[in-house]
Amino acid sequence: MSRHVTILGICASLQAGSSNLTLLHEAAGLMPADVDFTIFEGLGDIPHFNPDHEADGAPDRVVQFRAMLQAADGVIIASPEYGFSLPGSLKNAIDWTIGTGELAGKPVAVTASVAGLGRGRRGLQALLVPLGAVGAVVVGGEPIVRGSGARAELGLLVAALIEAVEQRESVE
Ligand SMILES: Cc1cc2nc3c(=O)[nH]c(=O)nc-3n(C[C@H](O)[C@H](O)[C@H](O)COP(=O)(O)O)c2cc1C
Repeated sequence: MSRHVTILGICASLQAGSSNLTLLHEAAGLMPADVDFTIFEGLGDIPHFNPDHEADGAPDRVVQFRAMLQAADGVIIASPEYGFSLPGSLKNAIDWTIGTGELAGKPVAVTASVAGLGRGRRGLQALLVPLGAVGAVVVGGEPIVRGSGARAELGLLVAALIEAVEQRESVE
């Protein structure tokens, strides 16, 4: 890798003991040694999107979130499915980037830690809609079933994300 790469992990579950947070901690151990990996767990502290607040200066938590995204070469989102869709807190956070463009052209790996086959897929499909709206380059998109094969699947997703980051660098 030609330079130091920064990856941001976003956990879209707010609950303590989140399996998606556990998955992101596992991803940390699968990153190449020269990758700087940070996990953002603050979606629950981001206020509801309101364009009026943009005019007054974005809330501190939003400023911090945008700065972390801006500094990242790639992102990995681990998200539960709620009500056949993505969590509102994640959609809300993405809405705050529509006007400022931190995700435009950026590789974003998406997955969900799930208890069994067939779970979580609709949530990830729904997540593709706002990610498409902000111009993110989506990597992966399949849930990962917790259990013996999970680490290998996560390793493939991490490798695909790093490859997408390197590809983007090579054309810029
Ligand atoms: C209110 C509620 C709604 C849910 N809706 C769905 C759903 O539509 N589809 C699904 O596959 N799982 C659904 N789940 C299960 C969660 O996606 C699952 O428990 C997930 O692993 C939670 O992620 P976490 O462990 O990272 O918090 C729901 C859970 C809750 C509490």
